[in-house]
Amino acid sequence: MKPVRVGLVGLGTVGAGVFQTLRDNHDEILRRVGCDIVVTMACRRDLAEARAIVGEQLPLTTDPHEVIASPDVDVVVELIGGVDAARELVLAAIAAGKHVVTANKALLAVHGNEIFAAAQERGVMVAFEAAVAGGIPIIKALRESLAANRIEWIAGIINGTTNFILSQMRDKAVSFDEALAEAQALGYAEADPSFDIQGTDAAHKAAIMSAIAFGIPVQFDKAYVEGIEQLSGVDIRYAEQMGYRIKLLGLVRRRGTEGVELRVHPTLVPARRLIANVEGVMNAVMVRGDVVGTTLYYGEGAGASPTASAVIADLVDVARTARGSPLARVPHLAFQPEALRDEVVLPMEQAWTGYYLRLLVLDQAGVLARVATILAESGISVGSLLQREAREVGGEGSRRTDLIILTHEAREGAMNEALALLQALPAVLAPIVRIRKEELV
Ligand code: NDP
Ligand code: HSE
Repeated sequence: MKPVRVGLVGLGTVGAGVFQTLRDNHDEILRRVGCDIVVTMACRRDLAEARAIVGEQLPLTTDPHEVIASPDVDVVVELIGGVDAARELVLAAIAAGKHVVTANKALLAVHGNEIFAAAQERGVMVAFEAAVAGGIPIIKALRESLAANRIEWIAGIINGTTNFILSQMRDKAVSFDEALAEAQALGYAEADPSFDIQGTDAAHKAAIMSAIAFGIPVQFDKAYVEGIEQLSGVDIRYAEQMGYRIKLLGLVRRRGTEGVELRVHPTLVPARRLIANVEGVMNAVMVRGDVVGTTLYYGEGAGASPTASAVIADLVDVARTARGSPLARVPHLAFQPEALRDEVVLPMEQAWTGYYLRLLVLDQAGVLARVATILAESGISVGSLLQREAREVGGEGSRRTDLIILTHEAREGAMNEALALLQALPAVLAPIVRIRKEELV
């Protein structure tokens, strides 16, 4: 069989990992595919750096369009990152009739619908296993292995950088800034790490998963997104005392006929759940299907090798199908394009979740009762409560204490209203900390 010829655009952390893995595991991959997968051209702006990675023989260019136009390239692998230049490059590759493999979740979250439509029209594949959860084959699991199911919800630790930071802070008492710098040095973080810590990267991935799980267009712009910047060590410790860990979770959930929830935020998870014990750069995705029940996928979520593993899996798919009709195999978003539904993404106010609340209150008779009354009148049921011994901070009547409340599931809108009332109580002395909580059963 003729080899499948690859043009690598982007030779950074992931691009270099792909090049090295194709070389190191050449024989194993050849046995799986039945034909060679050969890099015939590579591209980055710094040619000296590129040469150091690929050696002397491979043709190099600084212009991605040279790769697209090359008659020696069947598949363009986009690994430059970013949105605008990547969109232009991917659309040009599709227009030229080239298959595309990309790890770029930002690109697909923002322009995925346009890109998949163009690929469908042109009859080429756009494969993106590496775009979600690094080395974990979650795209294939959702699109193919769970095809018998109506997916009910997905909850995932889908950003390695933030999980690494939270683990380092908790276990090694490393500061936020030090942990982030380490994640950057290890090649986990995005070029702009605010994408990681503000939850944007996880929301990109959650939006992609919601599309292939529910058969809806990619709707990143509708996602509710909250990162880990506001998270304090105090809440991590209180959560632990109450049997929970705090994780940045991406959540997508079907809500009957109402629509779907699409949200990313720090979340309390029972410490006994496997996912609560996923540490460092590891990712984990729980998927609940109506037939299979709950499944869990675990692995390295970022870094050169795990991501290269996913990129090459896509190359293998392309290579296997390139001789037949690629579109007959698995549609880009798992569902037939004409069967995609414009389901509503619910506003966060309509989401249902549990809550952790931390209130700094005056330690006076009646305060707890007033707090409980407001929650009860808002229809919010308290699951458990922790009150630390009060500390003196001044004269008479100024003893204060942290009141930690875990609630059962409630509607976000009801909680917003209750929080406004609680915050207005004179006995509440500081902004209330609210962190969502999921039992994941
Ligand atoms: P890097 O910043 O390490 O690499 C980007 C590469 O693209 C560099 O070689 C850069 O080299 C090249 N490049 C950038 N712009 C251009 C351009 N206009 N023309 C030609 N070359 C260009 O990024 P990563 O490898 O970390 O990430 C690549 C993609 O993979 C991103 O979309 C990222 O989100 C995704 N991803 C990354 C993971 C990771 O763990 N790092 C995991 C999963 C996905 P030069 O500056 O010399 O041009
Ligand atoms: N910056 C991303 C992360 C890379 O930390 O998870 C993998 O998508």
